[in-house]
Amino acid sequence: MIRCISCNEEYDDDEIIYTCSKCGSILEVECDVEDIPRETFEGRRDNIWKYKEFLPVKYENRVSLDEGGTPFCKCDTIGDELGIDLYVKVEGSNPTGSFKDRGMSVGTTKAVDLGVDMVGCASTGNTSASLSAYAARAGLKCAVVLPDGKVALGKLAQAMFHGAKVFAIDGNFDDALETITQLALDGELYLLNSINPYRLEGQKTIGMEVVHDLGWQSPDRIILPVGNAGNISAIWKGITEFRDAGYIKDTPMMTGIQAVDSAPIANAVKAGSDEVIPVENPETIATAIRIGAPVSSLKAMRAIKESNGTAETVTDDEILDAQKYLARSEGIGVEPASAASIAGLRKLVENGVVDKGEKVVCIVTGHVLKDPNVAIDACEEPTKVSSDPNDIKSVIRNL
Ligand code: F0G
Repeated sequence: MIRCISCNEEYDDDEIIYTCSKCGSILEVECDVEDIPRETFEGRRDNIWKYKEFLPVKYENRVSLDEGGTPFCKCDTIGDELGIDLYVKVEGSNPTGSFKDRGMSVGTTKAVDLGVDMVGCASTGNTSASLSAYAARAGLKCAVVLPDGKVALGKLAQAMFHGAKVFAIDGNFDDALETITQLALDGELYLLNSINPYRLEGQKTIGMEVVHDLGWQSPDRIILPVGNAGNISAIWKGITEFRDAGYIKDTPMMTGIQAVDSAPIANAVKAGSDEVIPVENPETIATAIRIGAPVSSLKAMRAIKESNGTAETVTDDEILDAQKYLARSEGIGVEPASAASIAGLRKLVENGVVDKGEKVVCIVTGHVLKDPNVAIDACEEPTKVSSDPNDIKSVIRNL
């Protein structure tokens, strides 16, 4: 069943609907799971479908590239430096290089369940990269709308290469989302942005995996970058479903990080207000989270509040610095948006919001190769040498 998160109006599973027709608010899929012992999941292949009882689509229709089961790395170099117990969940290791694959696997499976033949999305890059791959896998037609000139190179290459019809508009992500939503409401395509609640059903498996990875324990805190605010909402849903199933007792403080000039949710949290005021012209080098009007802000605010969490802002310089820090001290290469979680963690430790000794999980959402230009610009050019080993010797002896 699909339910409105504001007025509780109910809708059938096979209804194609994105917002409540009664009050206009956003929707959530209600997942009825009863009495499944957690041992059920052991010994299954380590992808999102190991939690199939919690995924409200037809398992036999599943569109999968073996997504999920991503690395969960204990990061003692950074953890010791900050005085915390740090783990990093590496979502860049998904098939198309971002966490979106979890949501697209379930979302395109729902598209198959419904019998639609065309899917679409607006995107800052990763959603389109993922959807175009899963649409190809499912044999569905696919259209994506992107903000012209503001999508990182690797993501654009993926969307184009997997065969989606790619449109670039003169506008930002928020404008692109309005355009594609209108096409969906006109019945032209099935919308697979995170306003579609089935997307979040896939992404909630991040939260489930984190507690599973920790041996059926909740961390004290989960920190992640926030853009359109679907992922923080989804992870909280996964956590609460596992709590309600009796697998864990405690829950983590959900902590969202936004870039300072694209921070409607963090601004509201910091102001102690429930009202999320859209940012007119969002900007940040972390183009993935260059979003001013997050569609899931109601769910995200609920997640932060219910979990006793918080939100913080970081500057582009702090993001770039954290991206390099994670790459060079732990060997984990992530795109700028993902590094916002590490930049936010550093800031929250400095401010005393994160306590010493806390068990913190940072979700890093996309691979470094998604945005090769930013990575290259952040580094020294390769040193040109002759093929004479002595030329190299003189340099490496001074490293
Ligand atoms: N990190 C990365 C790498 C992303 O691509 C996104 C969102 C986020 C974080 C934020 O997640 O929107 O659920 O709060 N990217 C979307 C896209 C908007 O179109 O690829 P969110």
